[in-house]
Amino acid sequence: MTEISLVTGASGFIASHVVQQLLEKGHHVHATVRSTKNEKKIKHLIDIQARWPGKLTLFEADLLVPGSFDASIKGCSIVYHIASPFFIENKIQDGQKQVVDPALKGTQNILAAVQKCETVKRVVLTSSVAAIFGDYADVRQMTDNTLSSNYFNTTSTVTHNAYSYSKVVAEKEAWKLYEAQPSPRRWELVTINPGFVLGPSLSPTSESGSLSTIDELLRGQLFLGVPDLWFATVDVREVATAHIRAAKDPNSHGRYILADRKMHSFVEFARILRSVTHSSRIPKHTLPSPFVHLCGPLLGLSQKWLRLNLGIHFAIDNAASLDDLKIVYRSLEETLEDHYHSWSTQHSSH
Ligand SMILES: NC(=O)c1ccc[n+]([C@@H]2O[C@H](COP(=O)([O-])OP(=O)(O)OC[C@H]3O[C@@H](n4cnc5c(N)ncnc54)[C@H](OP(=O)(O)O)[C@@H]3O)[C@@H](O)[C@H]2O)c1
Repeated sequence: MTEISLVTGASGFIASHVVQQLLEKGHHVHATVRSTKNEKKIKHLIDIQARWPGKLTLFEADLLVPGSFDASIKGCSIVYHIASPFFIENKIQDGQKQVVDPALKGTQNILAAVQKCETVKRVVLTSSVAAIFGDYADVRQMTDNTLSSNYFNTTSTVTHNAYSYSKVVAEKEAWKLYEAQPSPRRWELVTINPGFVLGPSLSPTSESGSLSTIDELLRGQLFLGVPDLWFATVDVREVATAHIRAAKDPNSHGRYILADRKMHSFVEFARILRSVTHSSRIPKHTLPSPFVHLCGPLLGLSQKWLRLNLGIHFAIDNAASLDDLKIVYRSLEETLEDHYHSWSTQHSSH
């Protein structure tokens, strides 16, 4: 029997790569998008569909609508639940509505569909390192100042790091529903917890927070300098591969942090992109932190947020991704170079 995988949020940055890699491996894919009539958002999926005729079927589904995934899940053995909005903290005005409701209700909806669909054997949920820590300062409480999947974010709320809060409540709900299955469990759950995802985008309309951050840098909006912020980074192609390996390997289990072992600073991003683009509007310098504190209100960042995040970095325990999923992390230089090339192609064609 043909194995079919369901991918939710297929129009998005990460999910588009998962769809493409599944098709490259010869799988059949059911992919959900919010609207099949939104040609701009799904054009790349229509192009992908034409490259693999008969292998990719699109369905409409909304995270907030109960029963939305029931049609698309029919006949599927693996579910990749990737859909969930990702906005940077200073772009969020109403945390409940913009991120928490879609993350939590969406997880409840998809898992209700999984409970009803006997063919599903495994669910791979796209969580985030944001489900592990809220503010960077939280990691100081972790053993050896190292980010580890043994922890859950306990500091975020709907008004402080709302996106991180949305990820931890959604992931916890998924584990709760997984545990609640009658024994023997029919479906397994694995979570992929990526850091800040960068790299070439197949989806020109994605509003992903990681794409919008690099977009600001490339457009020269940060020409004065960047704040002293550090990121746990990972290439989108490694994130997609990790999802597929976590689904295929029957021994994969638990939570997988996907990120380079070492964090990278914002100014390192800027310096790499400046050398790739030769643009003098991409800064070479970090802004002094007292200045960033002064500008905080203008940037939409609270003093509390700045105090708990600016200038803080830590090590990342990514051993499970190396040992179980055999992920080989490419260099940040290669990722950002490819990121820039896809960004410039998409922006020159508009
Ligand atoms: N990018 C990162 O750095 C990063 C890091 C860790 C984890 N993640 C996680 O990875 C997943 C995908 O993120 P991404 O970076 O690929 O962002 P993205 O491109 O913005 O993808 C988000 C997807 O969610 C869909 N979505 C949002 N609200 C929806 C709703 N109410 N109903 C149905 N679909 C909805 C979007 O559909 P529309 O196109 O219709 O808006 C889009 O396809 C998210 O779970 C995110 O938390 C991302």
